Amino acid sequence: MDAETIALVQRSFDKVVANSEFTEQWFYADLLVSAPQVKPLFKGNMEEQGMKFLPTLGMLVHSLDDLVTVIPIAGALARRHVEFGVRPEHYDAVGASLIRTLERSLAAEFTPEVRTAWEDAYTTLSAAMIEAAYGAEEELD
Ligand code: HEM
Repeated sequence: MDAETIALVQRSFDKVVANSEFTEQWFYADLLVSAPQVKPLFKGNMEEQGMKFLPTLGMLVHSLDDLVTVIPIAGALARRHVEFGVRPEHYDAVGASLIRTLERSLAAEFTPEVRTAWEDAYTTLSAAMIEAAYGAEEELD
């Protein structure tokens, strides 16, 4: 991830937050339609934003220029997700819903460059999360 990628992700995230009234709801709605198998994992009231997905994602993307700090935070978050029943393969479904939600929220501002930057950032973050939470498990196989 280069500096330009990080800047594109951070700037576009701030625009999403500026119009975030519906964004988190769009994200959950998209996730449940595109990946209904994850629905039973959510025990809390999703409408009350039990997952706090967007604010936490925002914290992570605003720390992307300091990977030494962000990777352990993302790793700890991922290890908590093991207790929620989250499996490595669920990260792709969440990533796809995230990209579609950003596209819907940013509309014309979701340029091909912004999409590529987000794909790069989510791939980096989710790979670090999966490694932290399931790395040892994969080595056992
Ligand atoms: C960058 C990726 C992700 C971020 C930033 C994120 C953020 C969060 C946060 C902040 C919480 C609140 C609990 C805590 O802090 O420990 C949470 C809970 C949860 N997350 Fe995530 N998450 C991510 C990926 C995923 C994935 C891939 C799944 C798979 C479906 C998932 C499913 C859940 C579930 C089921 C809960 C518990 C909700 C409940 O108790 O109802 N998350 N997430």
